[in-house]
Amino acid sequence: MTKRDFIKEVLVTHEEIVAFCKTLASNLESTFDEKDEIVLLCVLKGSLPFMAELLKHFTRSDIVCEFLRASSYEGQSTESKGIVDISCNTLDVIEGRNIVILEDILDTGRTLQAVRDYLAAKGAKTIKIATLVDKPERRVVNIKADYIGFTIPDHFVVGFGLDFDEKYRNLQDIIIPYPEKL
Ligand code: XMP
Ligand code: MG
Repeated sequence: MTKRDFIKEVLVTHEEIVAFCKTLASNLESTFDEKDEIVLLCVLKGSLPFMAELLKHFTRSDIVCEFLRASSYEGQSTESKGIVDISCNTLDVIEGRNIVILEDILDTGRTLQAVRDYLAAKGAKTIKIATLVDKPERRVVNIKADYIGFTIPDHFVVGFGLDFDEKYRNLQDIIIPYPEKL
């Protein structure tokens, strides 16, 4: 039998995620002109299922997929600053492009702020942010997503890309776990 005893509460169902992706694809298609390129930028690794689901719902067939990895480290100083390191970037040319950043979860906001500033510094034409989950209570920097799937209270969640120790990314729902059972 599939082990599911670590699930305390299902916060977002797979059906709700699919419905959001469908709406988001349609919103992006109406935001950008048909002649304009749309580059989806998946922030690895957590946004991979989000990108894969979103891709299914476009009617146009020229969506560009790129990937980058952003890792945050707590600073060494007494005040933890959370330094974000951007690596494994597949997006060679940033200048003049319409980039939609796909993030699994917007928490303190540091990761997205760093990714957005990096793209802006390299001359992106437009930068939009789409996050599957938003935890606004935890924000420490001034950043807002243009598209938000689900706003949740300050709970640690896993599933649909979100991991605990690299596991549980393949759960189809987003859930609150019993930490001691993970
Ligand atoms: P910031 O704080 O930069 O962080 O907005 C975003 C990244 O933090 C991770 N994160 C979580 N991962 N469950 C997770 O599995 C959570 O509840 C959670 N909250 C934050 C995640 O990697 C995200 O990209
Ligand atoms: Mg992430």
